[in-house]
Amino acid sequence: MDQGTPGELAGRHILLGITGGIAAYKTPDLVRKLRGAGADVCVVTSAGAQQFVSSTALQAVSGRAVRHSLWDEAAEAAMGHIELARWADTVLIAPATANCIAKLARGQADDLLTTLCLATTAALVVAPAMNVRMWQHPATQSNVALLAERGAHLLGPAEGEQACGEYGPGRMVEPADICKALTSIDPGQAVLGPHATDPADNSLAGVNVLITAGPTREPIDPVRYISNRSSGKQGYALATEAARMGATVTLVSGPTALPVPPGVKRIDVLSAQDMLTAVESQLDQTDLFIGVAAVADYRVAAVANEKIKKTASTRDGITLDLVTNPDIIATVAATAGGPITVGFAAETHKGLEHARGKLERKGLDMIALNDVSDQRIGFSSDANALTILWSDGEQQVPMQTKAAIARSLLSKVVELFNPRLSVRSPTP
Ligand code: C5P
Repeated sequence: MDQGTPGELAGRHILLGITGGIAAYKTPDLVRKLRGAGADVCVVTSAGAQQFVSSTALQAVSGRAVRHSLWDEAAEAAMGHIELARWADTVLIAPATANCIAKLARGQADDLLTTLCLATTAALVVAPAMNVRMWQHPATQSNVALLAERGAHLLGPAEGEQACGEYGPGRMVEPADICKALTSIDPGQAVLGPHATDPADNSLAGVNVLITAGPTREPIDPVRYISNRSSGKQGYALATEAARMGATVTLVSGPTALPVPPGVKRIDVLSAQDMLTAVESQLDQTDLFIGVAAVADYRVAAVANEKIKKTASTRDGITLDLVTNPDIIATVAATAGGPITVGFAAETHKGLEHARGKLERKGLDMIALNDVSDQRIGFSSDANALTILWSDGEQQVPMQTKAAIARSLLSKVVELFNPRLSVRSPTP
């Protein structure tokens, strides 16, 4: 069995909850990897998990007695369950069954593990594993969305062949990948809801942030247009969080149904050309530009002044000539002395390759890749997951609310570009 990279999880207190799925047989390997990376691991098993993996094996690899009952007097005397809930900086449930996820969503506490989940303020990380149909069931999907909305981190499930003989999403993410994902999860992040942010984080104080969000609308005639499914939610979440972190925020927004975030100045636009004009008008006072808008790549070459009517000549169809719209973010990135630029890439396949290509071609400092083929995230959803790429690195941000994603992205911008941001906006 491989061990994790030494030191990556040094000092971490991980409470590993194992529930009753066949993937539980992989958990001794998971414990070895977590410990190999430096974490202290305490294992708690559900009644179902004990059918799949032995406490003897888990005790041997974790170096601690395995906990499974609220009513174990000796174990409670050594470390009571509330103490255990406080000890953990991360509660990792792997594998998490549909039943366990349903109990967590309801806040039910009918065994030691679910009681601990209610009693802890540690980060909650859930690696689901179950039959593909159980995973796709609307009940499970709505439970998972609720957990993500409350700030839980979801890892997987992975797609592939299942123990039951079916194929699809439902496999537990491999132990090495779980271990790696934990290194990018902030252990101090309490699961208190979508706005569990640190009010003392003022790391964008004095920074002028310009964000584009939402779709653009490209007119065909006075009543018709070409647009896309962007809801604007991720861009608005970034504006909200940047303002919370002390930035002065201007949001250039295409048409959305969202309210103006508190403390944010919004400029409403419709077309890509309007959006570019609005962005250029703000550019000389911008330190950080984040292009989240789903800008239409093309617009109609000749917009009709009057509504296009069905006539004998158009009865069999019409052809619209489209011309290419300006690339707003590439224009910003090419501006001499311009701001730090962060783009978004919504991709359905070969995501990393396409996103890195865009980072280089458009001359960006950073790009956030969104896998829009994943039905649980993207467009209108309240949850999202990203891979952030920059010139010589990349980092996964696991599935969370769009607010938590925004916070992680902005923290990464501060971490990587703080010297450049501070030079542009010297503190008085
Ligand atoms: O090329 P693609 O549309 O996939 O690039 C996405 C990124 O580029 C996003 O950050 C988006 O806001 C920005 N973009 C832009 N102007 C365009 C097209 C995309 O600013 N015309």
